[in-house]
Amino acid sequence: MSVDLSTRYMGLELAHPVVPSASPLTGDIDHIHALVDAGAPALVLPSLFEEQIEHDEMAVHFSLELGADGFGEAPEGFFPQLDEYNTGPEDYLELIRRAKAEVTVPVIASLNGVSTGGWTLYAQILADQGIDGLELNIYKIAADMRQTSAEVEKSYLDLVELIRKSVDVPLAVKIGPYFSSTADMARRFAEAGADALVMFNRFYQPDIDLDTLGVKPNLVLSDPVELRLVLRWLAVLYGRVGCSMAATSGIHSGEDAVKALLAGATVTMMASALLRHGASRLGEVRDGLASWLEERGYESVSQARGSLSYSSVPDPGVFERTSYMKTLNSYVPSW
Ligand SMILES: Cc1cc2nc3c(=O)[nH]c(=O)nc-3n(C[C@H](O)[C@H](O)[C@H](O)COP(=O)(O)O)c2cc1C
Repeated sequence: MSVDLSTRYMGLELAHPVVPSASPLTGDIDHIHALVDAGAPALVLPSLFEEQIEHDEMAVHFSLELGADGFGEAPEGFFPQLDEYNTGPEDYLELIRRAKAEVTVPVIASLNGVSTGGWTLYAQILADQGIDGLELNIYKIAADMRQTSAEVEKSYLDLVELIRKSVDVPLAVKIGPYFSSTADMARRFAEAGADALVMFNRFYQPDIDLDTLGVKPNLVLSDPVELRLVLRWLAVLYGRVGCSMAATSGIHSGEDAVKALLAGATVTMMASALLRHGASRLGEVRDGLASWLEERGYESVSQARGSLSYSSVPDPGVFERTSYMKTLNSYVPSW
């Protein structure tokens, strides 16, 4: 391929912009090797949860949420043993040590803290392991009726600022899309010291089991349609925030990666499609992206990046409103 796919993400030089995001695959050394063999230019490890450190066993365990998805072509096939996923701090540090020793691509650790002290202490411990970057997975449901949106936002920003001061590694912040003003928050995250925004965290929504009358934990792998929300915010933010942007949620094919890139993503990240189809999917997505660019005469990913963003639109809000009206009008009823 003659297209230059090289990408600078959160200060790291990557061979191309298709990166495996945090999932059970990156939590297992054999799958890490498979991903790197398939061409992964970097790895984001699963999150170390503060609860794991406090109680040794995770209180909030992703694996509890598994079960409902059908995994199409690979029933269980590409899932490493989930009882070995997010197991404890010692295992996590060992995973970092092995990944750093055995593969040459940048290793980005991920942390999901609770207390301020926990976040900073474990950020330092992870940074001391020689990681190449740290992703902060801030997963909060603001359910306290007495906490205002301004207070919630401040707590996010204070945290990023604090961790920025505590560690000297490139810092990414994985956020959700549900801020009152996502654009303002994105700008302020970058100002607080984030080198990258990872957009967006999926908030898992448990179901109700009508037989047991209990809450049914339930993790459904993503669908490419989820990428659309990400595309919108990439397009709004491209050229306006002072940090890299990673697209996560719904990248399943080369076309999905192209869309994210055109909207403004610095890198695209994959979990569900790799879990469904195996590590080789990563190489297919990278090649699909490269072919698309080559066929249209692009010389590099940088040349195409952000070309469908709103960077030349003076007021994305007005543009969005017009598009909204057009979308509603485009529906043709079948009656
Ligand atoms: C089984 C599973 C485990 C995951 N574990 C983590 C995790 O530990 N930390 C994290 O930040 N994201 C985690 N994620 C979220 C993914 O990294 C990713 O952001 C999300 O699945 C959306 O991307 P996708 O559409 O490619 O799946 C997990 C996702 C899955 C499916």
